[in-house]
Amino acid sequence: MSDRKVTIHDVRQAKEEGRKLTMLTAYDYPFGQLMDLAEIDIVLVGDSLGMVVMGLEGTVEVTMENMIHHTRAVVRGCKRPLVVADMPFMSYNTSIREAIMNAGRLMKEGGADVVKLEGGVDFAETVEAVVKAGIPVQGHIGLTPQTASALGGFKTQGRDAESARRVIEDAKALEAAGAFSIILEAVPAAVGKLTAEAVKIPVIGIGAGPDVDGQVLVTHDLLGLFDKFVPKFVKSYTQIRPIILEALTAYREEVKAGKFPGPEHSFAISQEALALLKKSLRS
Ligand code: KIV
Repeated sequence: MSDRKVTIHDVRQAKEEGRKLTMLTAYDYPFGQLMDLAEIDIVLVGDSLGMVVMGLEGTVEVTMENMIHHTRAVVRGCKRPLVVADMPFMSYNTSIREAIMNAGRLMKEGGADVVKLEGGVDFAETVEAVVKAGIPVQGHIGLTPQTASALGGFKTQGRDAESARRVIEDAKALEAAGAFSIILEAVPAAVGKLTAEAVKIPVIGIGAGPDVDGQVLVTHDLLGLFDKFVPKFVKSYTQIRPIILEALTAYREEVKAGKFPGPEHSFAISQEALALLKKSLRS
């Protein structure tokens, strides 16, 4: 892809031309910039925000205000990648009108290029209405974290023929509804492959094996920055927590020992001005 802003057409074209798509999460300005520098195609302001940034147990408590706030920060740093904002739980589940209004807020107030929402066949009508309102939608099927409790927990989906068939039907329903791509989470690799083959729109996998059209990970998992749990499908490319901890500890030790700040981190005043100041303090 070129240096200009990535569009949903580029994303579709990547699949047509057999080019793998890269997608990662970001929640703030510095990481938005880093995604740009790393030439990641798609940046997701995911509601994983709730867990990896806000310290919540899951994604259910994440609000529209949280998503708008963080999307704005990412968008400021992230010029080239397509920015996807997650629609939080209950921002699209109650009515189609509310789904359109909230998707619109993520674009108008958050500055997102597109929105993502969880669900397949059951949400096809909602996806169609949001797309018709002029807002591109990325679907999310397989393991859907917002409704994990209804799925019996954070479990791999599509492990038997019937549930694998449902995953593929969900993908087809989203394609028919006008979604421009799909996130497919935690399904056997063979089901990932069959799903990607079943639709023309790109299927971006997270724990869906290698034979899909692209990959997405939660950046804090990739960096070893989130300590609570690491799903099997995550590859940690570095362990950044110990590096950060080492720097924070060194800072604490230097301040306590009077070693920081040194002269190179301090401002000077002329001897003349200092002498005048001292004299004025004495009088
Ligand atoms: O919120 C998120 O980070 C996601 C990814 C797991 C795809 O939806």
